[in-house]
Amino acid sequence: MSLIPKDPNGCPFLFLAPMEGVGDRSFRKAMASIGGFDAAVKDFLRVPKNAHVKSLATVYEADELAPIPLVAQLMGSDLDLMADMAREIESRGAPRIDLNCGCPSNTVTGRGAGSSLLKEPNFLYQVGKSLVDAVSIPVTIKMRSGFEDTSLFKENLLAAQESGAHYITLHPRTKVDGYGPPARWDLIAEAKSILKIPVVGNGDILTVDNALEMLKHTGCDALMIGRGSVINPFIFHQIRAHFSGKPYHPDWNSVIHYFNVYLADIPPEIPQKTKVNKLKQLMSFMFKANEALLEKRNSILTSQSIDPEEFLHFALPLLRDNYSSFNV
Ligand SMILES: Cc1cc2nc3c(=O)[nH]c(=O)nc-3n(C[C@H](O)[C@H](O)[C@H](O)COP(=O)(O)O)c2cc1C
Repeated sequence: MSLIPKDPNGCPFLFLAPMEGVGDRSFRKAMASIGGFDAAVKDFLRVPKNAHVKSLATVYEADELAPIPLVAQLMGSDLDLMADMAREIESRGAPRIDLNCGCPSNTVTGRGAGSSLLKEPNFLYQVGKSLVDAVSIPVTIKMRSGFEDTSLFKENLLAAQESGAHYITLHPRTKVDGYGPPARWDLIAEAKSILKIPVVGNGDILTVDNALEMLKHTGCDALMIGRGSVINPFIFHQIRAHFSGKPYHPDWNSVIHYFNVYLADIPPEIPQKTKVNKLKQLMSFMFKANEALLEKRNSILTSQSIDPEEFLHFALPLLRDNYSSFNV
């Protein structure tokens, strides 16, 4: 039986994916203002050699999205430091700790962390177990399908399970794939057939149909959505509505509120120009939602505005006029 609950209508548990850079606190708070997801995973907290665990851990605030749980994700490879950090994060009220075995960045993987852990299943097991042994909250593992190829796929899955992880989230691309080729959902189905622990399916869910297809073709226990939620912040509600049978009508005021929450959370000392660039980053996703928006995308990205309000005044009408994805 699955350890990950469904909602009363049978909708699987929905996770907002960690997205370092794009998915910062302002984004998570804006997404929480719309809601529809059950939990969020914070972008990775890197635990480098000689890390000062107590001060590093302060970037994690368990009640950031309260009442929505915020999972902490750790990335590192020093067993003792990772255990210390896990204990510190647990003491800060985290509901769960997730181990990052997917980050493709070379600066990150240099010391054998992130996706590098996929090169050595036995080491992945050791890092996972060091976290499991350190804390009393559940530990989970988020992984890609391999480093260069999928030759160690099964070994890595079993290593994750044997380490005591409660479940895994699978983004079925290798480190070398980056974000290029389509996510291989067949590997999520394979993981389901190999593992006893639940599998959260992730990768390329951009629409409600994609979510339903992933569930049908993989049998996964829950869904995690990253970029699809930046493109369409209502996607979680829309998936849930499919299961409840009650139509969900996104309204434009929620979009305006979303951007207001986003802006309000950016610290005041951040320069206006940087705020505009952050808005552009969000919009660069949203303006991928359909052909009509794609045509306008360049005018958004090349806007010379240095005032966030002025920029929104220019960009929001373009979004509204062309945003058929959520039928506002
Ligand atoms: C900008 C960006 C940053 C990411 N940062 C993280 C991260 O900090 N930790 C992690 O486990 N995955 C990270 N990912 C991977 C996503 O969580 C997710 O696995 C991947 O984007 C596939 O899901 P999607 O197609 O729904 O976006 C990141 C992805 C993107 C696009």
